[in-house]
Amino acid sequence: MKLQSVLLGTGSYLPERSVSNHELSKSLDTNHDWIVERTGIHSRHVAADDEYTSDLAVKAATRALEAANLKPSDIDMIILATSTPDNTFPATATRIQSKLGITTGFAFDIAAVCSGFVFALATADNYLKQGMAKNALVIGAETMTRILDWEDRTTAVLFGDGAGAVVLQAQGNTDKGILGNTLRTDGAGYDQLYVDGGASSTQSTGVIKMNGREVFKHAVTRLGEAVNDILEICNVEQSDIDWLVPHQANKRIIDATAKKLNLPDERVIHTGHSQANTSAASIPLALDYGIREGKIKPGQLVLCEAFAGGYAWGANIIRI
Ligand SMILES: CC(C)(COP(=O)(O)OP(=O)(O)OC[C@H]1O[C@@H](n2cnc3c(N)ncnc32)[C@H](O)[C@@H]1OP(=O)(O)O)[C@@H](O)C(=O)NCCC(=O)NCCS
Repeated sequence: MKLQSVLLGTGSYLPERSVSNHELSKSLDTNHDWIVERTGIHSRHVAADDEYTSDLAVKAATRALEAANLKPSDIDMIILATSTPDNTFPATATRIQSKLGITTGFAFDIAAVCSGFVFALATADNYLKQGMAKNALVIGAETMTRILDWEDRTTAVLFGDGAGAVVLQAQGNTDKGILGNTLRTDGAGYDQLYVDGGASSTQSTGVIKMNGREVFKHAVTRLGEAVNDILEICNVEQSDIDWLVPHQANKRIIDATAKKLNLPDERVIHTGHSQANTSAASIPLALDYGIREGKIKPGQLVLCEAFAGGYAWGANIIRI
């Protein structure tokens, strides 16, 4: 029987503390108007000192499980997309597994930075279709503010913390679920957006460095290609897409992709204004927002896309 990875529920969590552009401009040579005009960001959430990526993930996952009407013990696979793990190893996904009280199945992390959730969804989809698992938790969770140089105005204003999660179930005889995925990387972009530390190179965590203009150009071009690819892979017309649920790096990049799809702004989920770029967490945060707000409805077609350091980019189409 042909299996589909069906979305049973979504959940998300944002740390309590919200930091506005105005607050940031007290300690940084920047201003609200510049940040809004260039990015669309008004504020971002920042995790408390004792809040780790796994803590954010567990809260989002618990909400997703409730929405899916499943118990933690029903889950037999956890995939966490993150670039800010609790520790270099083991995989933070195993800590999430333990915090949720799950003692069976398997859990692992995926690193594709801001495209992490798109990669994680595609990975989960293939595992579920192969029958390697029945119920999957796919999570994007980040504490990006821990790897910011708070004196670098070109990056410090762009990122935030948060987590989003989805529960997927392998089901037969359904037209719902993930219709297809496209993933790409090009390591030629490695030095354009990176963290200048790591276990192997500096034995430290490092901070984000970015050539913003170069990344912007590549993001717009590559996302345009990804959109064409995913429509072809899924045999879907532009006009069939009900919602664009994009990675929330920059409103101008999102607008360019929406234009490519001929989608009016009312059909695009925007959360970046109050969350900034939460890297791998931004798509599941936006998806959960869209569903809980009653915008995204059962039966509708959703296109998710992201561009990231690496470069790594991709897209998925899901029938809700
Ligand atoms: C980062 C980004 C918003 C910058 O916007 P931009 O229009 O390209 O701006 P530039 O980098 O050309 O900088 C323009 C000027 O603003 C200044 N500037 C940069 N950050 C600033 C800030 N936070 N506040 C005020 N001024 C700032 C620059 O120093 C520069 O000044 P100069 O002209 O005197 O040298 C934009 O390049 C971008 O969004 N890039 C993609 C980022 C992204 O998507 N990253 C994640 C991918 S997952």
